[in-house]
Amino acid sequence: MLRLDGKRIYLRDHRAEDLAVFHAWLSDPEVSRFLSWRTTTLDESLIKLAEAIEGAGQQPRRKYFFAVLAKDTDAIIGEAGFTVAEPVKQGGIADLGYFFLKPYWGQGYASEAAGVMLDYCFRRLKLHKVMASCDAENPASERVMLRCGMKREALRRKQELLDGQWRDRLEYAILVEDWLKNNSQGNPENDPG
Ligand SMILES: CC(C)(COP(=O)(O)OP(=O)(O)OC[C@H]1O[C@@H](n2cnc3c(N)ncnc32)[C@H](O)[C@@H]1OP(=O)(O)O)[C@@H](O)C(=O)NCCC(=O)NCCS
Repeated sequence: MLRLDGKRIYLRDHRAEDLAVFHAWLSDPEVSRFLSWRTTTLDESLIKLAEAIEGAGQQPRRKYFFAVLAKDTDAIIGEAGFTVAEPVKQGGIADLGYFFLKPYWGQGYASEAAGVMLDYCFRRLKLHKVMASCDAENPASERVMLRCGMKREALRRKQELLDGQWRDRLEYAILVEDWLKNNSQGNPENDPG
């Protein structure tokens, strides 16, 4: 089971017992407001969680969806993850995302989780680029991308159908050289070699 450590949080692969919290955020209209695949029933969330757990076992691994836990309480505070598009010898591209339970918003947790994942993508998986995207009217998510050093690459007009409405999406990305330049230390706990 993969575990990635930050200062205040850690990310670990999902387990079956995460279902209640997983369903809590996935079915909260405020948290899942910009999600095209939000769930309403526990059974639907169970299927999504099973997909996340199955993804962790696949080789080569392409899907990394984690529960995010606070180190001081060991409580699950959110979900974060990324999907690797096509890993090749010369690098590869991942697409990442994050969702936190409402009581934990605005405390820098999403930025910390994104940083932990970026470090793992670049130092451990040796990818060359990590992307993220958000609804054009989701400034908190855009701010997380900016805080991680991502640069805006595109505004895709009427890109995603959400609640019957075509919505604009912003795409951001960071390259390995920029991440390493600005984060020279990395986290030795997550980079065993
Ligand atoms: C987006 C989300 C993950 C951010 O989590 P978080 O832990 O609160 O993020 P952080 O605290 O690391 O950073 C949030 C930043 O956005 C800013 N922010 C929050 N709400 C904002 C708003 N309405 N307008 C502008 N900026 C806003 C915060 O001030 C902070 O920036 P700062 O530290 O420079 O001041 C969280 O709001 C969430 O789970 N939203 C619902 C799910 C979602 O939309 N996920 C992203 C899908 S692409």
